[in-house]
Amino acid sequence: MSKNVLTAVAWPYANGPRHIGHVAGFGVPSDVFARFMRMRGENVLMISGTDEHGTPLLVQAEKEGVSVQELADRYNRQIVEDLAGLGLSYDLFTRTTTRNHYATVQELFRGLYDNGYMKKETTMGAISPSSGRTLPDRYIEGTCPICKADGARGDQCDNCGNQLDPSDLIDPVSKINGETPKFIETEHFLLDLPALANALQQWLSTRSDWRPNVLKFSLNLLKDLRPRAMTRDIDWGVPVPIEGWADNDAKKLYVWFDAVVGYLSSSIEWAWRTGNPDAWKDFWTDPEAVSYYFMGKDNITFHSQIWPAELLGYAGRGDRGGSEGQFGCLRLPTEVVSSEYLTMSGSKFSSSKGIVIYVKDFLKEFGPDPLRYFIAVAGPENTDTDFTWDEFVRRVNNELANGWGNLVNRTVSMAYKNFGEVPQPGELEADDEKILKLAEDAYGIVGENLAHSRFKAGITHAMHVVGEANAYIAAQEPWKLAKDDSQRERLATVLWTALQVVSDCNTLLTPYLPHIAQKVHETLGRDGIWAASPTIVEVTDDMPVEPVGHGLPEQGRSYPVIMGDYDNQQATWQRTPMVPGTVLTKPKPLIAKLDPELAETGPEWAPVVRD
Ligand code: MF3
Ligand code: ZN
Repeated sequence: MSKNVLTAVAWPYANGPRHIGHVAGFGVPSDVFARFMRMRGENVLMISGTDEHGTPLLVQAEKEGVSVQELADRYNRQIVEDLAGLGLSYDLFTRTTTRNHYATVQELFRGLYDNGYMKKETTMGAISPSSGRTLPDRYIEGTCPICKADGARGDQCDNCGNQLDPSDLIDPVSKINGETPKFIETEHFLLDLPALANALQQWLSTRSDWRPNVLKFSLNLLKDLRPRAMTRDIDWGVPVPIEGWADNDAKKLYVWFDAVVGYLSSSIEWAWRTGNPDAWKDFWTDPEAVSYYFMGKDNITFHSQIWPAELLGYAGRGDRGGSEGQFGCLRLPTEVVSSEYLTMSGSKFSSSKGIVIYVKDFLKEFGPDPLRYFIAVAGPENTDTDFTWDEFVRRVNNELANGWGNLVNRTVSMAYKNFGEVPQPGELEADDEKILKLAEDAYGIVGENLAHSRFKAGITHAMHVVGEANAYIAAQEPWKLAKDDSQRERLATVLWTALQVVSDCNTLLTPYLPHIAQKVHETLGRDGIWAASPTIVEVTDDMPVEPVGHGLPEQGRSYPVIMGDYDNQQATWQRTPMVPGTVLTKPKPLIAKLDPELAETGPEWAPVVRD
């Protein structure tokens, strides 16, 4: 029986186009996983959207001299194009400024409040002495009071992972203009994390198979659990659904409180848009359902602590007890899958430093699969890794083009030239059996890796089979067999074997390289859709929502979403037999080789800078 598999992908801030560091963290890994699970026959729901609240948007809007809504609209559209262009197969990619999202977030907040997990307190908030405006936590930097590392932020220290308040920092300064913030009293709602600590601990103690650094980081967070403010002094965000607060334009919910609820609200929106409004429950309340969350490492805290705490408190499962809200008892994450950082020559990608490679430029010049390949095989799965044009060119030329592209091309070319169709094999010899077995066994090996988010190991093994298949052809020398009429049956056997292995390798590579896989499928004389692509659809915000909400966005705005019909694709995780007699045509080159000079210079839009 198929399992319900929620693939929950981190929501990018709508404050700029995506760069390749972003999609290395949340994008490609989640898509490889979802595509594999669908091929294995599971019931997959892959959801996300743009994260449109919070100070990152405000700061950028100010920089660009536009309203926040305008900024959000612009980059929501741009990001939708970036992600769809990369072939990320979302069932729904929406946004956080929808009516449904606001109402869902407010329901969660109400539930937590009613169960006693939201406490009103007077706290010390930072303001800029020059402008009098509140300073967001993330924009205050100083020395960590716990590990004494420099560059700790007002919300957390990346060095030791501890949660901080801006007033904890030693020598705090504003990242916006370098001034020393002033602290004033302000009222906020705090999520009572200490009252949820036992429940969190109990849950985390059952999560033994996570990536070791993610688990270690998450367990470490439990050591210092303090109540954490879930409202902010800000005028852009989801209104706080509490008497006296709902209409206060100067206080909104904290962006991270609302963003993580997006996983639920987008599932609800997806169910409604696909005509089965209760379908989201299969992924959220079915006890057998599993959920995998994909992100970069700076997001771990919010997915292994804040979001589970919201879910536990909403269901009344913390020390204060309480009852379930209208959504019922929602499932906690099965696994938080986090990547490390993709850097460029040692520095973290950062548009402020001018070190940035945009997805849109990349796609325009190279198409999606070379980037998908690089991220899968050389990306930051377990440690920070460096992107260099040199390595990109080498991997694309040697591995993708010479290794994979060439295997497909020469196998199909020879079969086409000598037979015009998939030949009928004769008796198999030991070498034929051996390569066929290697390819067949790879479904288990690569599949096991993919099921555990070991993407690098998975593609490495798939490419090992490609290498062995090339070696098989080199050893069998079918071009010699072709010159000898008495060897015609042997030639047919070798080419049939090679075609079958090409077909297997293509299946194994499909989650990683769906666009190339579709072309290989056609090159093998097959038709129809092998690997489906996402599509961009223009929709309107007209979903009926329960009016628990206050101050919802206006109804009827139109926005682009990513959706897709992935049920009709043919790809499944098993051998597809090569049928003798299938008509072949002359293959076209599959993967373009890159100009070696690119390794030295980089493209015009992201030139290599030497120091
Ligand atoms: N916008 C956040 C970031 O880019 C990620 C939010 S993930 C969410 O770091 F799920 F919480 F939305
Ligand atoms: Zn620290």
